[in-house]
Parts: sequence; C-alpha cells; structure tokens
Amino acid sequence: MAVVEAVSPATSYLPLVALKDVFKIYKEGTTETVALRGASMELPRGRMTSLVGPSGSGKSTLLSLVAGLALPSAGQIVVDGTDISRLGESERARLRAERIGVVFQSGNLIPFLSAAENVELAMSIAGKRAGKQSRRERAREVLTELGLGSRLHHRPTQLSGGEVQRVAVAVALANDPDLLLADELTGELDSATAEQVIGILAEAWHQRELTVLLVTHNRDLAARADHRLRLVDGLVSAG
Ligand SMILES: Nc1ncnc2c1ncn2[C@@H]1O[C@H](COP(=O)(O)OP(=O)(O)O)[C@@H](O)[C@H]1O
Ligand SMILES: [Mg+2]
Repeated sequence: MAVVEAVSPATSYLPLVALKDVFKIYKEGTTETVALRGASMELPRGRMTSLVGPSGSGKSTLLSLVAGLALPSAGQIVVDGTDISRLGESERARLRAERIGVVFQSGNLIPFLSAAENVELAMSIAGKRAGKQSRRERAREVLTELGLGSRLHHRPTQLSGGEVQRVAVAVALANDPDLLLADELTGELDSATAEQVIGILAEAWHQRELTVLLVTHNRDLAARADHRLRLVDGLVSAG
C-alpha cells in the first residue's frame, strides 16, 4: 500500500499533510453544523505546527480528519501523497496505527492497565513489533525517555496529571510515528506542568524528526511551534 512506504527523496520536500478545501458538516436530525468551511493547510515535514482558535472553531474536527478518524463532507486530506478520505476504514486504521500518533486532552489511557501495559497495548494493536518481551523492552525504553522510568507499573489513577499526559505521549510514540497529533494535551494541566509536558514533546520532536500538529488554546505553548496557524469560523489562516 503506497501510504505506508518510506518517503522517497523526490517527494521529501512536499508537506507531509495537506488539506485542500475541506468541509465538515455534522447532521443531527434536521440540524446541520458546519464545522469546517473550505479549510486548507499544510503540515511541513519535520516541523511543529500549532493551531489555535476559539472553542467550537473546528480544531478537534480538523485533527480527527487528519487522523483518519472521521471523513470530510468535501475536500481532500492528503497524507504523504495519498488522499486518505478515499481510503476505506481499515486502511485508515492501518495508516493511523503505523504512522500517526494521537494524544487527546484527557489522555487516552486504559484505566486498569499500567503505564507500561498501555504502551505495550498500542504496539500490539499496530502489530509492528512481534513478541511480548520485545514490546515490554520498548515500552520501558520509551517511558524512561519521557522521564517515567519509575512509573512503569503505575496505573493512570496512581499518576499525576502531567505524568498521565506523558504516558499518553509515550503511547502515541510507541510505534515510531511520522506524525504526532496533539489535541489540547495540556488543557487540564497547570501552567508549570503544561510547560514540562510540552518540553518533553518538543524534545521528542527534535530527536525523532517528527512532524507535529499541536492544537492548543495556550498562546505561549503555540509560540513554541515553528509554523503557526489559526482557525477561525472553519477557515485556516496564518497564525
Ligand atoms: N460529533 C459531532 N456532532 C455534531 N456537531 C459536532 C460534533 N463534533 C463537533 N461538532 C460541532 O462542530 C463545531 C466544531 O467543533 P470542534 O471541532 O470540537 O471545535 P473545537 O475543537 O475548536 O472546540 C462545534 O460547533 C461543535 O459543536
Ligand atoms: Mg476541541
């Protein structure tokens, strides 16, 4: 499948993600909500793009489309040369498992699994790494990298808010994605802890040459990105 092939040098200057004239209209009974009305944007490879915008402006909708979790009503969502809105659900799920890491506001952790087990589960689902022992070692490695070496066997309820979000970042990085999508990942943290989590994300970004989309309300955090966008009334403009 073309979308999982390594990037050839000839295409490496193209943005990793490009949205073209994307519309998303939610229909509930007779009510229609236009969340995106012709949004276009690019996520340049290897850069951190921040996306700010008022509540209800369509940020989470846009992120879920890039993740392939939802389909647009119209327009193109091109990831590494492939319009993912034309892929079937299982192909999108595979693309997400293999190449995209996603972190949400309140963590996407399984409450009854430890930090390490949460990371191992993400690897099992992607099926990239065969063998329980290999997954266990990799989970320990990623969590230790993110400063959680002493929290491997703690469950989410036994961790602080900042630690939970660092585990969520570890889960997102477990399968070595090319693209990391973060939706208000520091939204529920105090500013010092938010700064710490973003510091860890920025470190992962540099070390792994990730392409990052950081959706945030927080202007200070958005300013850490080297490519800044703003979403207003379902349209993207330069931030
Ligand atoms: N699943 C859904 N069904 C119906 N309307 C939705 C759904 N998700 C979001 N919306 C609406 O779409 C608009 C954009 O929402 P959202 O993408 O969550 O914005 P943001 O993340 O910027 O706050 C809002 O008006 C919201 O109420
Ligand atoms: Mg949102």
